[in-house]
Amino acid sequence: MARITASVYTSHVPAIGAALDLGKTAEPYWQKVFAGYEPSKQWLRENRPDVIFLVFNDHATAFSLEMIPTFAIGTAAHYAIADEGWGPRPVPPVQGHPELAAHIAQSVIQDDFDLTIVNKMDVDHGLTVPLSLMCGALDKDTGACPCPVIPFAVNVVQYPVPSGRRCFALGRAIRKAVESFDEPLNVQIWGTGGMSHQLQGPRAGLINAEWDNRFLDRLISEPEALAQVPHIEYVREAGSEGIELVMWLIARGAMSDVSRGAMSDVDAGGAPPRVAHRFYHVPASNTAVGHLILENA
Ligand code: DHB
Ligand code: FE
Repeated sequence: MARITASVYTSHVPAIGAALDLGKTAEPYWQKVFAGYEPSKQWLRENRPDVIFLVFNDHATAFSLEMIPTFAIGTAAHYAIADEGWGPRPVPPVQGHPELAAHIAQSVIQDDFDLTIVNKMDVDHGLTVPLSLMCGALDKDTGACPCPVIPFAVNVVQYPVPSGRRCFALGRAIRKAVESFDEPLNVQIWGTGGMSHQLQGPRAGLINAEWDNRFLDRLISEPEALAQVPHIEYVREAGSEGIELVMWLIARGAMSDVSRGAMSDVDAGGAPPRVAHRFYHVPASNTAVGHLILENA
């Protein structure tokens, strides 16, 4: 059977992609950001997954404001890189895993989460920047991304957006789906977006390092309680775009210390995960960069 072995959490600032693509990573402004991901790239080389289940948000590129799925699973064999206004990033298309994606869709929808199935989708910085950060600058011939990716898009752009509680419960259902796939795949789940940032209005530029670090603490040690935090707290404390952080709860809910509750009467939840890496840095564009790697015990 397939297993989720680890979860990765990271911000997705688009300017990070531009810094990589334009060769600016050694500049003083960017040097500290990229230094924080050096251990992560090493970790990924040593802990190569067979598939990455990548929870991200589209920024009105694949889905315009005409149609906004709350949760959308990518079931395609590959995904083109979106043009976000300056031309697509010079990175290879992302390879999908249609068989596992279709299986997860089947299982999760049967568990009463009404996913949108997406057979064609361009992917924007929400997906490509986390991949670039973890894998290094993507090689244009081979593609440095080490394995197929299942993109899972969450609406955190247009209200109403899903609650942290719903996202956490969805993570549980995704874990159950992965563990019922009949191939011995090593699957990682990544939660992306955040941390505190606000891109518009009188509070544009808001960063809240204290709240962000408390979020990281609680994500590690009391994720179920963290999942109860209402939207209004994210917006008040972490800015309007800080709401992207609810996506991290999907990845955390899929870890093996989380009881599957009503979904299984035999699984009370295992030992807490091991923190393989933690990093926090301000500034990067308008956003506080937060990053965590958790390994299942
Ligand atoms: C920035 C951050 C985002 O999450 C985003 O989607 C766009 C811009 C920024 O920090 O500039
Ligand atoms: Fe964003």
